[in-house]
Amino acid sequence: TVPLNAAVAPLEWLLGTWESAEPGEGTFPTIKPFRYTETLHFTHVGQPVINFMFNAFHIETKKPLHRESGFIRIKPGTNHVAFINAQNTGLVDIEEGELTDKQLNLQSCALSRISFAKEPQVQQICRIFRLQPDGKLEQTVSMATNNQPLTQHLHITYQRTS
Ligand code: HEM
Repeated sequence: TVPLNAAVAPLEWLLGTWESAEPGEGTFPTIKPFRYTETLHFTHVGQPVINFMFNAFHIETKKPLHRESGFIRIKPGTNHVAFINAQNTGLVDIEEGELTDKQLNLQSCALSRISFAKEPQVQQICRIFRLQPDGKLEQTVSMATNNQPLTQHLHITYQRTS
């Protein structure tokens, strides 16, 4: 294994595999509340970049559902972070924001989609990762669509499994 590139050392606390500690909670004004499980992988290959892959599953059938994959970079000499993400739903987004200690607050600054993506259109994403004092990782995602204002869609906590 190669050493972690110093440029992404401030994100070392994310590295590894995380499994939902208890089921995640999905909400939005237009949908029936749902629960899900999710596995996160944060890896690196020595570049000044973190690679991520998020795989969510149906709580009962365990079938794969939502998936996200991409890269995280830090603007050199700052705490400004870029989260470059492709989603299996045909959405791609760039989220940027600040890293403060063990919390990452991200806001979408670019969103695009395939021509035949399902409606409604996502227009904004706000995402927070926070390492809790008990060592669990928490993720909260809010979104706005072309017919709903910014509202929470996901809340979940994970425990590190490797
Ligand atoms: C529904 C976006 C992550 C599960 C939706 C809808 C949108 C959306 C736009 C439709 C809302 C409406 O009809 O008004 C996103 C975005 C995500 C994300 C942008 C990540 C940033 C997830 C994850 C899961 C999930 C991780 C986990 C299983 C669902 C389910 C529904 C839904 C079950 C309701 C049924 C459906 O429309 O398929 N999501 N989602 N989503 N999402 Fe997400």
